Amino acid sequence: MNVYDSNRMKDLFYPHGYSETELMDDADIVVLNTCHIREKAVEKVYSDIGRIAKKRSIAKSGVFKLVVAGCVAQAEGLEIKKRAPIVDFVVGPQSYHNLPSMIEKNEDFLSDDFLQNDKFKNLIFKSSNKVSEFISIQEGCDKFCSFCVVPYTRGPEFSRPVQEIKNEIQKYIESGVQEIILLGQNVNAWSANGIDNKVWGLGKLINELAKIKELKFIRYMTSHPLDMDEELIEAHRDIEKLMPFLHLPVQSGSDNILKLMNRKHKVEDYLKIIEKVRNHIPKIAISGDFIIGFPGETDKDHQKTIELIKEIKFSQAYSFKYSIRPGTPAAVFFDQVDEKAKNIRLQEVQNILREQQFKFNQNSINSNIKVLVLKSGKKDNQYLGRSPYNQSVFFNNDKNNLIGSIVNIKVSEAYQNSISGHIA
Ligand code: 5AD
Ligand code: SF4
Repeated sequence: MNVYDSNRMKDLFYPHGYSETELMDDADIVVLNTCHIREKAVEKVYSDIGRIAKKRSIAKSGVFKLVVAGCVAQAEGLEIKKRAPIVDFVVGPQSYHNLPSMIEKNEDFLSDDFLQNDKFKNLIFKSSNKVSEFISIQEGCDKFCSFCVVPYTRGPEFSRPVQEIKNEIQKYIESGVQEIILLGQNVNAWSANGIDNKVWGLGKLINELAKIKELKFIRYMTSHPLDMDEELIEAHRDIEKLMPFLHLPVQSGSDNILKLMNRKHKVEDYLKIIEKVRNHIPKIAISGDFIIGFPGETDKDHQKTIELIKEIKFSQAYSFKYSIRPGTPAAVFFDQVDEKAKNIRLQEVQNILREQQFKFNQNSINSNIKVLVLKSGKKDNQYLGRSPYNQSVFFNNDKNNLIGSIVNIKVSEAYQNSISGHIA
């Protein structure tokens, strides 16, 4: 979502006479768009600020302004300017539509009110030069998992109206975009009044978007088990443009830990959802997120996570060491897991997930898949696309510019993080 937000920030500056530069030395304004989800991401912000400060001291231009945007700005507020006086402005993820005017008026814009509606109404969507675009359709979270900062940094759950989403997609379609990735922290909690004036969920929305002739591929992320309704599962079965890939975080394979995490679902619920999804779409690729070493996690809990992973067989998944986030309930839980145990458990989980991913990729060998060509690869005549199952796909072709074409690839090789083949 930060990629999407950064693009919007860029677009907001164009009417004010700014344009984008790849070179920091040429920049009058540098915006650092930040993430607060784990401590590591936050540390990175301060080391980036240090790196920029060095540049600034040698920059020729005296008008160089540094903005810290995003969730770190929202969470730490004006403290950032105290800790790093080089920072000129701070702005949160729901008020960055004010960025150009903040700079003109020389004032910060930090608010405890989450101005999602205001923001989206004031954003600018320039045409795209890509074939696949992200679009935020939902933001924020009401679930309050005990480890997570999102409800405090992005605010409550908010869904964009159908027409607004269609208008933005239309803009991208006109400039040649063929794939849309619908984004939200709880994207499947998206809900709004539909064109028939009835309340729609994500399944209905995808059904409506699939009617756009020029739109060829639809994806979405990230979903929550509690919001995985029948309509969305049926959309996977019935809508060819909706890709057979589901990113559905479970976080832990132990009910005790899920309870402490305030996830509001049990392992059994997750297994039932996956079973139902696979009954409808047998080949669907399943992805997830895991937090390893949550406070109170015992070896037994950890083994249950391993069992769950083995039972589900993920096509890919993300796993993170639990990171204490100030202000969240779990930050003050007594029985924090020691770092060494966390490392060992994480290694074990990642080894199994890596094996599963490799196996999934190997199982693609000899299949024919429809691939949207996204960009050139690093090697001569090499192209990169994405498979329906969200794998990176490489292939060679000496024809000029296949970017934006849809090709049929016969898969011949599998690697850890990608597959490759040739045009069938
Ligand atoms: N520590 C580690 N991982 C976290 N995530 C969210 N909060 C934390 C935390 N405090 C992970 C979850 C979530 C993903 C986006 O980040 O797995 O699904
Ligand atoms: Fe964070 Fe997702 Fe839990 Fe919301 S549902 S609190 S975004 S982990």
